[in-house]
Amino acid sequence: MSLRPILTFPDPVLRKKAEKVTVFDDSLSPLITDMAATMYDAPGIGLAAPQIGESIQLIVVDVSKEEDEQKFTVLINPEITEREGHQVDEEGCLSVIDLTASVKRSRKITVTYQDASGAEQTLTTEDRFAVVLQHEIDHLHGILFLDHLSTLKRTMYKKKIKKQLASKK
Ligand code: NI
Repeated sequence: MSLRPILTFPDPVLRKKAEKVTVFDDSLSPLITDMAATMYDAPGIGLAAPQIGESIQLIVVDVSKEEDEQKFTVLINPEITEREGHQVDEEGCLSVIDLTASVKRSRKITVTYQDASGAEQTLTTEDRFAVVLQHEIDHLHGILFLDHLSTLKRTMYKKKIKKQLASKK
């Protein structure tokens, strides 16, 4: 197991559409272990493979209700097939440093995906967990929560990051 560095905006890998996983073999398992470890270490409640530089459609999310329990779900090639209602919740992202903002998402979603063995699964979820899933699935399409903000907020953030990068040089 190893902790993997998390890429941050504006890394171009975060903007790529991730490839579908077609081979379900032993090579997935170390990646999943690394991703879960990296997520807990951050700490975060969700992580998409592109965030560690692997441009494939795989996410891990922590679904545990107890605070000190570590139970995660792996979703491969996830697709949102149904949406219901709306909710606005505060979001942040391990790849978008120093920013949290309110984002409007669907309140309840149904997702079809494959598990680590390649078996088809379906899950319906709502509220906070639905937000996390929508956020992580966005990552697989090169979308960041930034993209859901107003142009003004997004521009301000980009300027701030540009400045930070320039001052590091
Ligand atoms: Ni994120």
